[in-house]
Amino acid sequence: MIIAIDGPAGSGKSTIADILAERFGFTKLDTGAMYRTVAFTCADRGIDLDDETAVEHLAGKLDIAFAGDSCPLRVFADGRDVTREIRTPQTDRIVSKVAAYPGVRSALLGCQRSFAEGRDVVAEGRDIGTVVFPHADLKIFLTADPRERARRRVLQRHPEGTGGVDIDREVEQTLADLLRRDEIDSHRATAPLKPAADAVHIDSTAHTIDQIVDKIVALADARR
Ligand code: DC
Repeated sequence: MIIAIDGPAGSGKSTIADILAERFGFTKLDTGAMYRTVAFTCADRGIDLDDETAVEHLAGKLDIAFAGDSCPLRVFADGRDVTREIRTPQTDRIVSKVAAYPGVRSALLGCQRSFAEGRDVVAEGRDIGTVVFPHADLKIFLTADPRERARRRVLQRHPEGTGGVDIDREVEQTLADLLRRDEIDSHRATAPLKPAADAVHIDSTAHTIDQIVDKIVALADARR
């Protein structure tokens, strides 16, 4: 079975996909982590992000691997653990540019499809229901109010607590980055962020994670 979860940054996709994967004993496929790994590795190796050919070449060669027993899995690029590096605000800022290159998308598409062969998967991203797994058994399009998404991202960045942090300022900054990223992800020519025609839309703004998980579990159970 394949469950596809698409939606913009901070909509809760990752947390919800982790819980669903554990609950059903499925493998989680975090496609955003793959685009992030390409973006971070380019920056780290000094590849000019405007050089589409060079970026696509790297994406075609890079060995991206996931490891671990529980979600979220650790992420490796050519054997190097990049789990932390791919989640920094610096990577946030460059990833949409890299993800818009058609050659990067086609390189990762092959990996994403072979990852799911012979497995039950919860896959999350932007084009899972439209491009990667158009025949997914269940497609969810998860959204939330942009300011709420920015607030969640900031809280995620400070798991140890927000004492001494100027939260309002960080939320404003994160909101601007997030809206810019939504704009690029939604308007690129190849595989833009959009709901599949047969996706179930869920707005997570006013709901707890548990409420949304319960709703998706009920939908998945009905289709299993
Ligand atoms: O879900 P995320 O924030 O980790 O995704 C990082 C970036 O990768 C996001 O800006 C859009 C891009 N992405 C994509 O283009 N297609 C996907 N299937 C997943 C992510």
